[in-house]
Amino acid sequence: MTTATGAATAELAALLGRARAGMAFTGAGISVESGIPHFRGEGGLWTKFDPYKVAHIDTFLKEPAQYWTYSLNHRRTDAEPNPAHVALVDLERRGHLRAVVTQNTDGLHQKAGSGRVVELHGSSHAVVCLDCETRFPRAEIDRLNREHCPPSCPACGGRFLKPTVVLFGEGLPVEALRDAQSLAMAADVVLIVGSSLQVYPAAGIPRLALEHGAEVGIVNAEPTPFDDRATVVIHGKAGEILPQILSRMASA
Ligand code: APR
Ligand code: ZN
Repeated sequence: MTTATGAATAELAALLGRARAGMAFTGAGISVESGIPHFRGEGGLWTKFDPYKVAHIDTFLKEPAQYWTYSLNHRRTDAEPNPAHVALVDLERRGHLRAVVTQNTDGLHQKAGSGRVVELHGSSHAVVCLDCETRFPRAEIDRLNREHCPPSCPACGGRFLKPTVVLFGEGLPVEALRDAQSLAMAADVVLIVGSSLQVYPAAGIPRLALEHGAEVGIVNAEPTPFDDRATVVIHGKAGEILPQILSRMASA
């Protein structure tokens, strides 16, 4: 059990309690306690698989089977929000968070009840055909993928069925990036949870908030490049730490 030190818990609770235009910025680490692996750092997926092979647009366009075989063997479809996701919903309901800006594509913030979620890297819950642009629910294509991998488009027979996620080598959705940038420029507090903060342009969002005067709190299992610019840093498991922060706020 990760227990944040009393001083750090009190400091992060106070920081979040001061937030009137706060935003959360989350990464894969917030979903690890829901059973979805993260990418970098200890035990991360990219220490086992080459991201260029399974998550780059160039490879996908050469051979979609690489992605769909990886998905067949590794995609988690039964993940549920964990206490960290729920804590962010609580912070939003108390008026301390305006939105969650996430790099995750798992939809767990929405499933937990967050009202405003900006998905910088898209969503893995839909699939689009690159030939006829028809969109399908992911579950339907996963079913096809189990019958025949890689799946072909039910509408046109095309071979490029792509999840609506941002692969390496692709740009971010313009509207999501614009939303995230305006939230960051207006933020008084940014709570960063479960990100190695190594992937741009996404990691530029908390940087933008800092440059516009926001205070930053970080909850992450390992040190990040932003730790020295944060007001408060707690290293540990988000699903254990965030509920402690919320109960500290409740008793304040
Ligand atoms: N609680 C808090 N932090 C955790 C936990 C946990 N239970 N488990 C792991 N972490 C931390 C890891 O130590 C790591 O620093 O979460 C961080 C996750 O970092 P990454 O795996 O790099 O994930 P992320 O920052 O979201 O990656 C950004 O890279 O591969 C692309 O598109 C993908 O959106 C992803 C982007
Ligand atoms: Zn098609």
